[in-house]
Amino acid sequence: MSQTAISRRFFLQASALAGATATLGAASGPQGATPPKEALETMMGVPFPKHDKVRIGVIGAGRRGQSVMSDLLNVPKVEIRAVCDIDPRQIELTKKRFVRKGLPEPRLYAKDARDYENLCKQDDLDFIFIATPWEWHTEMALCAMNQGKHVGVEVPAGVTLPQLWELVRTSERTRKHCMMMENCCYGDNEMMVLAMARQGLFGTITHGEAAYIHDLRMVMNEKDPEGRYVSEATWRRAWHTRENGNLYPTHGLGPVCWYMGVHQGDRLDSLVSMSSLEASLSEDQAVRFKGRGETFTCGDINTSILRTVKGRTILLQHDTVSPRPYTRHNMIQGTKGAFADYPERLYLDEVAKKTKKHAWIEGEEALKPYREQYVHELWKRVGDLARKNGGHGGMDYIMCYRVVECMLEGLAPDFNVYDAAAWSAPFPLSIASVKGGGSLQKIPDFTNGHWSGKA
Ligand SMILES: NC(=O)c1ccc[n+]([C@@H]2O[C@H](COP(=O)([O-])OP(=O)(O)OC[C@H]3O[C@@H](n4cnc5c(N)ncnc54)[C@H](O)[C@@H]3O)[C@@H](O)[C@H]2O)c1
Repeated sequence: MSQTAISRRFFLQASALAGATATLGAASGPQGATPPKEALETMMGVPFPKHDKVRIGVIGAGRRGQSVMSDLLNVPKVEIRAVCDIDPRQIELTKKRFVRKGLPEPRLYAKDARDYENLCKQDDLDFIFIATPWEWHTEMALCAMNQGKHVGVEVPAGVTLPQLWELVRTSERTRKHCMMMENCCYGDNEMMVLAMARQGLFGTITHGEAAYIHDLRMVMNEKDPEGRYVSEATWRRAWHTRENGNLYPTHGLGPVCWYMGVHQGDRLDSLVSMSSLEASLSEDQAVRFKGRGETFTCGDINTSILRTVKGRTILLQHDTVSPRPYTRHNMIQGTKGAFADYPERLYLDEVAKKTKKHAWIEGEEALKPYREQYVHELWKRVGDLARKNGGHGGMDYIMCYRVVECMLEGLAPDFNVYDAAAWSAPFPLSIASVKGGGSLQKIPDFTNGHWSGKA
């Protein structure tokens, strides 16, 4: 692992986020915005102890678990020593993965839905990665921390405010990190835009746009040759029969929070949300997938607007059912320019003034000099390995590499339990806002005042 590893403070440094200093109100009020009485020492900026190697347990060896295991096994000084899943087919796949790699088989936990508790007790683990359905995330993460392990949980970290508070308090009490493994923060475009934002290219950042727009109708109805639902079809569709809001807020939001310096001098403060009518899943069930008598409650397109205490706004959307191409928007606006993704394009006031063209800088050739100048230090160092090994265009490998690097070098993680809680909070708060006809919801200060960047 490189000796040039960078600290979280340097990595996310918010010093270039000029201006926008007025604080527009403190968090208080409804929806669990008031923190529990117990005030514990912050986990903000707390470094990992240095590790010689990183011994990992994995709970949930489904699609995501398998893919992240493949990344982790390509990171130097990683040993996967335990794997848990309730599906014997996933356990068989896991065994084959280790045989193929010529690695010793990890201890396997497959007895029942609570066998993960035994994995968490295994005493030769440093870090537990959780890739199970959303309903399991919080209790598994709590169990891992309570057994003295750092934990990385898939997105979202929790689905209610009390769950998110419990993650925060447990991380503070156990002094174990709880990271939500938001891989999209490590995408090559996202990291380039982070470098641009940190170096002041956009000026004072005023607004961002984020989304998870991904047509998952086939995924939510996928069956194996025997006609049994598989993978996300066994759990994701059910959420669309119970709730109405943004059910997957973090893929677009995490990177935009990094650009804005959220928890490095700013904080998410409030949210309003509305959903469109529900139509796509119902129409699909009637025609393509034949009715099963399910009633879908989740509007096809959910749109939220978030505001930070410094007055920045974020448009946040969720749509996993409409026929259209994938996007996370990944858009950021400042006083000197803007970046928008899908496809990637840049606008700089200074360039527009010179060329007298009010047009995006777009296309591979035009963007090349900016890519070369603003390529993020991590992509410079391990980008080739990431492209060769990693899922999702390499971002998954970069994330795994970076978490391990922080543990080996004794650095604070790039994201912590406060990011996990704040980025997940739009899940319950959008549902509450939609129920209230678009009512304003306060986003709790999970950091207990440590968001100013001084911690
Ligand atoms: N970050 C990303 O890019 C990304 C991509 C895909 C999925 N995900 C997230 O990863 C998680 C898993 O998604 P997936 O697509 O792999 O779903 P999946 O259904 O393929 O895998 C989930 C696995 O968890 C297992 N499981 C369920 N309950 C369990 C229990 N009590 N104990 C042990 N194992 C249990 C299932 O048997 C299954 O193998 C979800 O939270 C999803 O949102 C993230």
